[in-house]
Amino acid sequence: MIDTVAFSGDYTKLRIIDQTQLPNALVVRELMAIEEIERAIKTLQVRGAPAIGVAAAIGLSVLARRIQTDEMPAFLRELRVLAARLVAVRPTAVNLAWAVRQMTQTAETAQNTRDALARLREKAEQIRQDDIAACKRIGEAGSRLLFDDCGVLTHCNAGRLAAVRYGTALAPIYAAAEQGKRIRVFADETRPLLQGARLTAYELHEAGIDVTLACDNMAASLMAQGKIDLVLIGADRIAANGDAANKTGSLGLSILAKHFDVPFYVCAPLSTFDADVANGAQIPIEQRDPAEITAAFFKEPIAPAGILVYNPAFDVVPHTHITAFVTERGICDAANLKNLV
Ligand code: MRU
Repeated sequence: MIDTVAFSGDYTKLRIIDQTQLPNALVVRELMAIEEIERAIKTLQVRGAPAIGVAAAIGLSVLARRIQTDEMPAFLRELRVLAARLVAVRPTAVNLAWAVRQMTQTAETAQNTRDALARLREKAEQIRQDDIAACKRIGEAGSRLLFDDCGVLTHCNAGRLAAVRYGTALAPIYAAAEQGKRIRVFADETRPLLQGARLTAYELHEAGIDVTLACDNMAASLMAQGKIDLVLIGADRIAANGDAANKTGSLGLSILAKHFDVPFYVCAPLSTFDADVANGAQIPIEQRDPAEITAAFFKEPIAPAGILVYNPAFDVVPHTHITAFVTERGICDAANLKNLV
């Protein structure tokens, strides 16, 4: 499969796989206006913490080319306005703010606007390449947790579609499969937007991995039957104490895993760790459009008109429920996070 996020060949556009069209069609879009990039992130055309970070970095590089001034102070002012607009689109995934900060800091070191454009392009491509390398290393480290014929439960999509390549929580599965291990994956469908059904089931099936789709409320019975040896999920932001925000439903899964004594792993690159946030209660949780719950993909109503809706995009898994974190620096539990980040 092509990379989820990249520059267009001439570096003038952000190129993404439009994930709202999957699994029915593989549509690639090229974006160059701020409104298009904001919309792509908001509507989850591009989604998953690492992927939106890389998309924002490339997006800023592309947008900077259209700033019409040769004066550095004015250039930086406009760049910061664009950066703030992108960061505001999705508040939970810290990779977005992290990548945008890397980009504005890079521009601030430039001598002139021409130099700034060159540095921004180079930095965005470096952030993209670093994501590929980090996910590969997460895969190698995490594959050691997987054994032949083991059953893995995953939630949402933390696969190659959520990053540039490989993904985070699915990277160990791809690596283990390459090593010849047979892995049985159970993918939660992940209400309300069905990233598990539409994306995880799609990408694993495409890759020839044994994947079975289950509704979110079936995880308990899968664990009760002993079909799940471990849970692998991604994260949108990990606080200094190890509390991890991830797709809504992750907290419930972690409670089930504790109950059934199933190891629970969070796979994430270091760009997802936020040392400035002490614990999960301080992580901002994005509230999304009620229509995501009341209408099947905003078309057919599936709930009474005007019903009150609770639609947080993420919830927080307490560090006490997390067996360990799998990162590009290896596997580490919450007590030892300080040595890692
Ligand atoms: O709302 P989404 O689809 O962007 O949510 C994505 C998740 O919750 C992922 O699990 C998380 O970003 C980790 S992706 C490697």
